[in-house]
Amino acid sequence: MNASQIAGPAALLPHGLAGEGLGYGRELIEWVRFPALGDERGSLVALEGMKSVPFPIKRVYYLFATKEGVARGFHAHINLRQVAICVTGSCRMVLDDGCRREEVLLRSPVQGVLLREMVWREMHDFSPDCVLLVLASEHYDESDYIRNYQDFLALREQMNPMNQTGGM
Ligand code: TYD
Repeated sequence: MNASQIAGPAALLPHGLAGEGLGYGRELIEWVRFPALGDERGSLVALEGMKSVPFPIKRVYYLFATKEGVARGFHAHINLRQVAICVTGSCRMVLDDGCRREEVLLRSPVQGVLLREMVWREMHDFSPDCVLLVLASEHYDESDYIRNYQDFLALREQMNPMNQTGGM
């Protein structure tokens, strides 16, 4: 995805996402909490699409053995929702919607952070034991990535309902 490929908002949002879907008017950081189903043997967390996770889960992946000093991410997705959970260890995640830039420390196996469409994310400060589990609403699709921050800002600006003809 580069600036020359930026089409109109409707073409980029095949699932008909409106402003709300892009997170306008919502907190940038949204935690998703999972009940720990523990007993005397230990703890267990169940992750279920459309129940504890607010979308159907099509893909699961995890980052582990991240080398010291390495930062990852540095992209946004056009049409993908994810929940990231640090099941072991910790890392710091930066979220940026073009207007706000906030960070969270992920260090709990019983809560994850919701990564909405069109939010720039960066992951830093991985502990050596960090396992970052990610639940995704879509299968892997490289064409869904925006890997250039300036392209991200331009697209975000185009999609802002305040900038649409007849907008608020
Ligand atoms: P990428 O999403 O860029 O990783 P990060 O954001 O953590 O830095 O993915 C790294 C590589 O792995 C890239 O070549 C694409 C590939 N990949 C898949 O093949 N399938 C997947 O589900 C994901 C997330 C990545």
